[in-house]
Amino acid sequence: MSKRTVLTGITTTGTPHLGNYVGAIKPCIEASHDPDVQSYYFLADFHSLVKSQDPEQMRQSTLEIAATWLALGLDTQRAIFYRQSDIPEIPELTWILTCSTAKGLMNRAHAYKGAVQENLDAGEDADYAITMGLFSYPILMAADILMFNSTHVPVGKDQVQHLEMARDIAQRFNHHYGELFALPEAVVEEHVALLPGKDGRKMSKSYNNTIPLWLPEKQLRKAIMRIVTNSLEPGEPKDPDDSALFAIYAAFAGKAQREAMRQAYMDGIAWGEAKQQTFELVNQELVQGRERYDALIAEPERIEAVLREGAERARAFATPFLARIRDAVGIRKLA
Ligand code: TRP
Repeated sequence: MSKRTVLTGITTTGTPHLGNYVGAIKPCIEASHDPDVQSYYFLADFHSLVKSQDPEQMRQSTLEIAATWLALGLDTQRAIFYRQSDIPEIPELTWILTCSTAKGLMNRAHAYKGAVQENLDAGEDADYAITMGLFSYPILMAADILMFNSTHVPVGKDQVQHLEMARDIAQRFNHHYGELFALPEAVVEEHVALLPGKDGRKMSKSYNNTIPLWLPEKQLRKAIMRIVTNSLEPGEPKDPDDSALFAIYAAFAGKAQREAMRQAYMDGIAWGEAKQQTFELVNQELVQGRERYDALIAEPERIEAVLREGAERARAFATPFLARIRDAVGIRKLA
């Protein structure tokens, strides 16, 4: 058990965008090549159900996200890549954990509290449109993590509280039933760029400022041309640290390239030229993946087969582990 177990979930809402790529997909794929790591990456479709009740959108997003990870070279021989809903042990563990999780712990979840506050601010009932799925979300997430004895969980800052809750839930269970669960740790990559979107705020579905990852070349160029800049003229020095365009360039550039572009900004590069160079750099990195992506999307049965195989490997761990958990709580054969 010296191998680290790294696990992370990707919610299947929306189309993958450049921010997902730089902030999560690329670092996870790179990490999956480390021989001292067993990584589990999964499509968190049960989590997505909390946010999206549009069946066709759910299917489409699951397809696109799976195709993206495969197109970008995730090594599925090494990493275990699966869809959450293919692992029936996860909802079962969720219920078992639900029964020993304090409601008060869930009351403190930022996402839930935020939703309540929004209701109150709008003069609505505190519970308006809040489902039990939203309320219990952190328990499902704890089950995802604890099911595989994960030790390291790469997540964005917004998920750190969920990791603390997963630890709390594990500790409480271990204390009562015996040491079954490893205590997971959040891994927040501080140096991974939080990519700004077209308007300069964090690139995020919720701000509607994203650049989809797999736009056809022409449209990618158009989207980059539309990134908001200021009115400084060619020749006037520009501040790279105050530019969404530069941040996007930097996220795709090597160190030397980045420094050269930084200098070009200070020397007054025209915005049009900076945009063109940013497009060329981003496009070059995505060209090959885009071809593989388009081919995969056209053959969903290939993706389905990969996910099935991943689920089988995941269950090879989850099924016997859940049997021990059932036994620990006293769900046992009578004879
Ligand atoms: N809640 C995570 C998010 O919104 C996704 C997720 C679900 C997850 N289960 C997980 C992340 C388990 C890490 C581990 O990004």
